[in-house]
Amino acid sequence: MSNQADLMDKLTSLAKRRGFIFQSSEIYGGLGSTWDYGPLGVELKRNVKNRWWRDVVTAREDVVGMDAAILMHPRVWEASGHVEQFHDPLVDDRNTKKRYRLDHLLEAQDREVIEHLSKDLLDRPIEGNVDVHTITGIVEAIMSHPDRVNLNDYNILADGKEADWTIPRQFNLMFKTLIGSSEESGVETYLRPETAQGIFVNFLNVQGTARAKLPFGIAQLGKAFRNEITTGNFLFRTREFEQMELEYFVRPGESAQWLDYWTNARLEWYASLGIRKDKLRLRPHSEDELAHYCITCFDVEYEFPFGWSELEGIADRGTYDLDRHAEYSGKKLSWFDPDTNEHIVPAVVEASAGVDRTVLTILTDAYHEEDAPKAGGEGVERRVVLRLSPDLAPITVAVFPLVNRDGMPELARKIVDDLRGDFAASYDAGGSIGRRYRRQDEAGTPFGITIDGQTLEDQTVTVRDRDSMEQERVAIDRVKAWLRGKMG
Ligand code: GAP
Repeated sequence: MSNQADLMDKLTSLAKRRGFIFQSSEIYGGLGSTWDYGPLGVELKRNVKNRWWRDVVTAREDVVGMDAAILMHPRVWEASGHVEQFHDPLVDDRNTKKRYRLDHLLEAQDREVIEHLSKDLLDRPIEGNVDVHTITGIVEAIMSHPDRVNLNDYNILADGKEADWTIPRQFNLMFKTLIGSSEESGVETYLRPETAQGIFVNFLNVQGTARAKLPFGIAQLGKAFRNEITTGNFLFRTREFEQMELEYFVRPGESAQWLDYWTNARLEWYASLGIRKDKLRLRPHSEDELAHYCITCFDVEYEFPFGWSELEGIADRGTYDLDRHAEYSGKKLSWFDPDTNEHIVPAVVEASAGVDRTVLTILTDAYHEEDAPKAGGEGVERRVVLRLSPDLAPITVAVFPLVNRDGMPELARKIVDDLRGDFAASYDAGGSIGRRYRRQDEAGTPFGITIDGQTLEDQTVTVRDRDSMEQERVAIDRVKAWLRGKMG
């Protein structure tokens, strides 16, 4: 196994061990690509969401929030283009009965296979690396006449093994559900595949009640569902996930400048979470990658162990969404400009991020293994540490009685109770002090406070910094100020 794949396995195992993330329905053998957040995970995720809401909504005068229902009228998904366009090309291997997403399958093939396909279907040789254009071009060529191309002529392997391919077909990613009391009379709709449409259909309600003037944004955070076929890489691509979406409404001629503003602002936001800057980049979409609603799009990407991958899409959607909903609903969706007495259909710049991908990025970026001096002993030992930013860490400060006697536990509990109103504080008395440090290092807890013999004499405690492992003595009545100073 490569070091990189190894890192994802280590992360998945740490996430389970420390109560960040568990496989969904684990006692029944698990449900593919769905994950549950445990006590530490739910705090980390909530901190990410709160941070986004603060930075994108409450700290700004030009953005308001909303929270739409997950179930929406079925016509919404016709108007949005999802019924017609939101699909992936899939192909089955008859030998193993396993299903593959065609573009992902091709990305995993040797160059000769892609060269052969490109020559036959695109009538051109490949210069340089096999890139996303070539793969997209081949997929489009196959899907325009799926029954005319026999994939078995191209030695396309399934996970490195010979395969017997079916004819590829398009597969819609939306989960269908029935609203109503019986199978016969129920109305078929979908679990929303994105939160954005809840914003577009409420454009008039929100704009009117907030008395918002262009440019302004509406933000929403919530669950979305996609019946993804290619899953894996832990939280990266799951069937149920949360999105943080901003739809920023602007005058049609001004969308390019706002796209520029939001791409830079969003890239900076990830760096502000403590994610290493050299692992982040912006990547423009090529023409053939653009979604059906997009004029221009940039992805914020992170360099994961499995390669550069999308964290967030920032797109100029033009007036596509409001135009389509106006057409399908028969309602005029525009904004009246009191200065010019004109009705304007605003263009939309969208910044669409995934909560779970952000959590995965934070965990991946924070994971470190290093040699560290043994706590209270000679020599060094290997320590695993999550260098989480203090304002995202699930526990900010852990308080340890050195031994479970001599009044130390009582004093430690008193300190924890006192800190709780201001910080995420936790009492930890289990095992040797060295084991407790290691446990809190793995949980990403940035600060530790130890109550020891000296505390009982002079009312000072030892405070420990997770990253430097340096320790200093601080008076109990100065601990809050010390922590505030460290949090910045
Ligand atoms: N409204 C536009 C939209 O939904 P998208 O690129 O399909 O655009 C936006 O999704 C973001 O949602 C992605 O950048 C990613 O962070 C997250 N996301 C999408 N599909 C996901 C999945 N299957 N699992 C986890 N996160 C996902």
